[in-house]
Amino acid sequence: MDDRKKATAAEVDIKKVFGRSADQLILNVVKESCQDAFNLPSFTETLQTIKTHFYDRNYDAVFQNPAHLPVYSARYAPSRALCYYHLFLEHPVLMKTLEGGPSTILCIGSGAGSELVGIAAAMVHANPVPKTKKKKASADKPKKDAKGSDVILTGVEEQDSISVKGGDPSLERATDEAGTLGMENLNLSLTTTDTTLNTADASSASSPIATTTTTTTTKAKKARINRHQVTIVMQDYVDWSPILGPMETVVRARMQLGPERLRCETEIGNVLDLSEGLLQRIQKADLITFMFVLNELFQDKKRTMLLVAKIVAAMPAGAHMLVVDSAGSFSNLKVGERTYMVYMLLDHLKDLEIVYQDDATWYRCPPSVTYPLKLENMRHFVRIYRKL
Ligand SMILES: C[S@@+](CC[C@H](N)C(=O)[O-])C[C@H]1O[C@@H](n2cnc3c(N)ncnc32)[C@H](O)[C@@H]1O
Repeated sequence: MDDRKKATAAEVDIKKVFGRSADQLILNVVKESCQDAFNLPSFTETLQTIKTHFYDRNYDAVFQNPAHLPVYSARYAPSRALCYYHLFLEHPVLMKTLEGGPSTILCIGSGAGSELVGIAAAMVHANPVPKTKKKKASADKPKKDAKGSDVILTGVEEQDSISVKGGDPSLERATDEAGTLGMENLNLSLTTTDTTLNTADASSASSPIATTTTTTTTKAKKARINRHQVTIVMQDYVDWSPILGPMETVVRARMQLGPERLRCETEIGNVLDLSEGLLQRIQKADLITFMFVLNELFQDKKRTMLLVAKIVAAMPAGAHMLVVDSAGSFSNLKVGERTYMVYMLLDHLKDLEIVYQDDATWYRCPPSVTYPLKLENMRHFVRIYRKL
């Protein structure tokens, strides 16, 4: 089949799945998955309780009560799923994680299902990668294999330092003040030049073929057999399986994503504890997402800074991190007398390159779609980072 015919075939497939409106199908998937929640006589009352806890920033009270979870998903997952779907479509670097053969997306704090629905819907658009381009696709991504690379940790305590780049005076003050907050153990250090890439790393970045190892060759072979398989790991500190189980079933049925295309895994545990199992997942992930969870984690500044340092150290070179959160005061981070947005600390990490940044953008739900509840427009910031 020539490329034009292939494109037409892909469009037919997309139409077959989504019908007239992808947005409406996404909402229908969430609605169908959450039908039991809508039938709850206490739905409105529970939603009010959840909102009150949010207002008080008492996140544990929202999520540690199993009765809240179905109501939370029914209310918040639809607009988020739409937003994440469009975000993936807008950014080729994100779509690439759905197109280039087996890949793993680790979604922190994703129990409510928004990431599952949004990313799965984006997968429907994923282009087939011609076999001949396979090698190039993996070569485009100068990712070191965790097993053989210098980023692997023998013990997480070894990597407790965060280096910030650029010599930004305000961040310099922030890092000074971090010490006064008991964050001095993080050993934040400022440099005016980025010395992360040694000569070998720099040459491998510009000449990716040089980084090809036995492991990546094996991966490429596997990719030919099992193209486009995406594993979404839904990490959360609460067991969301009563919601995620039915949602996965509906996603697979409505979006025509069989296990050969989509694998769903869950990982339960407080991310701040960074278990050995989670660390291993980080070392293998092509993309790590923090969607509307980072500012909750920053309630505990010291542990979250430590977590970020360990995650960045453990990420394979070339892997990406996607951070989306409120663009408003919910994402403020007070350090000493100063207030920063949470992304400012990430922006200055020496080992992360900013691939895309937007400090405030709106996702507005289209007026033409229908859902049993009013859909919320979302003002949020976006960061896509690449591990150097
Ligand atoms: C505001 S919700 C966002 C859910 C989802 N990411 C989305 O965009 O719709 C925050 C999520 O993070 C989870 N969470 C909160 N604190 C956590 C922690 N310390 N470790 C892991 N998950 C956590 C909650 O259970 C909840 O699912």
